[in-house]
Formats: sequence, structure tokens, C-alpha cells
Amino acid sequence: MSDSIGVVLLAAGKGTRLGIDTAKPLCEALGSTLISYVIAELEVFAAQNKVESKMSLVVGHKKEEIKAHLAASKPELSVAYAWQKEQLGTGHALQSYFEEVAEGWDHKYTLVVCADTPLITSETYTELLCALKSEEAEGVCATFDLFDPRGYGRIIRADQGFSIIEEKDATAEQRHIKEVNSGLYIFKTSYIKEHLYNLENKNKSGEFYITDLLKPGNKVVPLKFESPEQFKGVNNLIQLEEASNILQQRVIQKLQLDGVRFMNSKSVYIEPTVKIAKESVIYPNVTIMGDTQIASGSIIESGVTIKNSKLSERVLVKSNSYIEGAIIKKGTSIGPMAHLRPGSIIGENCKLGNFVEIKNTELNNGAKVSHLSYLGDAQIGENTNIGCGFITCNYDGANKHKTIIGANSFIGSDCQVIAPINIGNNAYVGSGSTINKNVPDDAFAIARQRQVTRVGMANKFMKIKTKE
Ligand code: UD1
Ligand code: MG
Repeated sequence: MSDSIGVVLLAAGKGTRLGIDTAKPLCEALGSTLISYVIAELEVFAAQNKVESKMSLVVGHKKEEIKAHLAASKPELSVAYAWQKEQLGTGHALQSYFEEVAEGWDHKYTLVVCADTPLITSETYTELLCALKSEEAEGVCATFDLFDPRGYGRIIRADQGFSIIEEKDATAEQRHIKEVNSGLYIFKTSYIKEHLYNLENKNKSGEFYITDLLKPGNKVVPLKFESPEQFKGVNNLIQLEEASNILQQRVIQKLQLDGVRFMNSKSVYIEPTVKIAKESVIYPNVTIMGDTQIASGSIIESGVTIKNSKLSERVLVKSNSYIEGAIIKKGTSIGPMAHLRPGSIIGENCKLGNFVEIKNTELNNGAKVSHLSYLGDAQIGENTNIGCGFITCNYDGANKHKTIIGANSFIGSDCQVIAPINIGNNAYVGSGSTINKNVPDDAFAIARQRQVTRVGMANKFMKIKTKE
């Protein structure tokens, strides 16, 4: 028998108390799922302790969805699945694991954790393993004190060993016990072998409880942890929000310690995948998601959303802008109320002003689009100035076409260019033009009707009000 650990995640339950159709392990918290948080910390635990481990998931309810999620989000994960055909309780789930994953018996230790406790950290897993070894115990269970222990199994300590009584089965007196079961255990696999098939379902739920493996008289030890927060289980949507808030707090505190300033950290939503460098400032009501990186000294004003984007140093994003799949280089200013769609690459020291929408477009350094414009499938050269109300007419109803404008050009206000179109360097397009022919370098182009002015003729067109 190797000195390795079989890691078992219990994820087969129906999650009835959630009141929604989503399988509980797939409930989302900060852009990830509950099961992914548990797996991520277990991976850190295995790596830190250099222990040989094999992860298995006991699945039942919505098992195909859970498998598909992990295959898509973590294809490199090596995991065995045990199918618990009927959900007859956490003890029965462990029986299903050993029935379906025969190599489970070969591991010296078996760690069992519920898929609905996403806040447990790798340090806690390590502490529990150390306790099992140092106490020379057959099994250890992580416990904690709760002022309001409702919903958790209560710990009944004995001179040697302990037992756990579920709330439903507890007497009124037992319900006052504040020390509760976290649902995290490490056993010697040999101990499980001895006791697993002696479990009975003589309780109010008619279920086989894993907690009945822990018995007074046996060398099983409750290890009480000081911080109850990390053991919070998610059984309903109130607890899902609580767990998400704790995960959010962890993300923000780490960023704060790294030198990121939050004006009101309670109001922001920042996923753990986001990287923000020091000296950046985040104003209230900001949402930053996915694979986003923000370099130092950037300022993100209120109401901004940023997804999967890369911002270099000293970028200023003004209020209520929406940025997705964009690259923004240093010193550039965006918004207020700008919309950057995927494929936007904005150079250094550019300016994108209010009500500007950009899609699949590259702006070279120093280019400016200050007001009310749409640029799609375009390339704009260095230091070119695009006036107010500019539109690239990139779509002919069937296909998208490209607009190329060179460097140091000037496009007057209220112009449209009908793509495909090429405007050269140092070109000048007069205001109010609809350009549908290429404009070479250094050329002036204007495409609007000449103005007609008739002196004294205004009164012919003035209308007189006839009714109040
Ligand atoms: C369980 C513990 C309780 C502990 C609490 C901590 C038992 C009997 N009770 O209660 O002592 O305080 O966790 O959060 O273990 N599952 C299966 N198959 C089943 C039933 C459940 O895989 O047949 C899985 C669920 O998907 C879940 C986990 O086991 O991930 C725990 O089940 P849940 O119903 O949430 O148990 P709790 O009532 O929270
Ligand atoms: Mg639970």
C-alpha cells in the first residue's frame, strides 16, 4: 500500500434546498463554480505537501452536466467518477466511491470533502493531515464553533473519540451544542474498510450517514478550527451569496495588500482570475471579469465593466464604459460611456470619448475619436483625428468590410466612410462627407452638396402658428 491519499468529493446530492434547477456543484460564485473552488484548493494542498493523490468525484444528480463542466473548464484534470445511482446519503456516497473506484482501497489515507464547501483552504487540508499523523488517529474531522449552529451536525465529544448527531436526529439539548461538523474528514483507509458496511440508516432521514463512521471509543479525533468562515456550506441561495461575498473579500484584500486602492470595496465585483497592479484605483460599482489584466497606475471610474481585456499602465477608464476583449495601451483615456467590443486594440495616448463604439478595430498611438462615433473593422493610423459623429459603414447586409485610414489624417465631423475604403496619410476629409472612393495620401476630399444661400428669402419658409 502506498502512502498516498484518495481524495473524494461528494457531489451527488440533489441540492433540493437550493430551490433552483442548477446542480449544486455547478452553482456560480465569482465566475467560477463551487466544485472548481474545492478542486483548486485540493490541487494546491497536494502540490504543497508533495503527496501522491488521486481525485474522485461521487456524482449522481445531473452527473453528465458536472462531467461536461469539468471536461470543458479543466481538461487537464485527472479525475475518476463514481456514480451513486440513488442518493441514499453521504455514507452511501462513500460506499459508491469504493465500489466504483476499486483503487480507492489502495490509498493509505482517504480524504472526504463535500462539493458544497468552497471556502476551505489548502492550509486547512494540510493541518488536518498533520493532525491525523501526529495523533496517530484512525480518522480526523474538521470542526468549528457556530453561534447559530442550525443545519449542521453537532459534535458530541467523548473521553475517547466522538460522535456526530445530525440536527434532525438531535434532542433539544443536543441542538444547543455549538461545535459542528464541517463535512471534511481524513481517515486511514483501513478504518473505513472496517466500518463502512456497518452503517445503518436508522435516522429521521432514512439515509446512510458518513458521520456515523465516527464513534466514541475509536481513535477518531475532532480538530476544532478557530475560523468558522471557511467551513460555511452552501445549501441554499442565501448561503451561496454569503460564500460569494467571502470569496470576493479574499480577492479584494489580496489586491489591497498588493497596492490596489478601492474607493468602496463593498460595491465592486472582481473575479479571482483578474490581475490588477499596484497604484491602480478602482471607484465604486465596478465589475471586472475573466482574464483581465490592469497594469499599474490605471484608474477605473464608477459603473465600468471590463471583461477579458488587457490595460497597460496609466489607462483612465471614465464612468459607465463597457470594455470586452480589448487591448488598451499606456496613457490612453476611454469614455465616459464608451463601448469597446472584442478585437479593439487601442494604442498609447489615444483618446476615445463619450458614446464611441469600437469593434475589431486598431487605433495607433495618439489617435483620437472624441465623440459619438462607430468604428468597426477599421485601422486608424498614428495621431489621426476622427471628428464627432463618424461612422464606418462596414456591413453591406451580408459581409463586413475594412476601413483603413493612415497616419496624421483629419476626418471632419459627421462623416461616413463606405467600406471597403482606404484613406491615406495626411489626408483631410471635409465635414459632412460620405466617402465611397479611396482618398490618397495628402489629398483633400469632400463629398456633400454645395450650400445655396438666397438673401432675404427666409420668410418664404417661415411658418406662422395657427393654433394654440
Ligand atoms: C453534511 C453533514 C453535516 C455537516 C454538513 C457540513 C452528513 C450526514 N451531514 O450535512 O454533519 O455539518 O454536511 O456542511 O454527512 N451527497 C452525496 N450523496 C448523497 C447525499 C449527499 O453525494 O446521497 C453530497 C452532496 O452533494 C453534498 C454533500 O454530500 O455535496 C453533503 O450533503 P448535504 O445534503 O449538503 O449535507 P448537509 O445536510 O449539509
Ligand atoms: Mg451541505
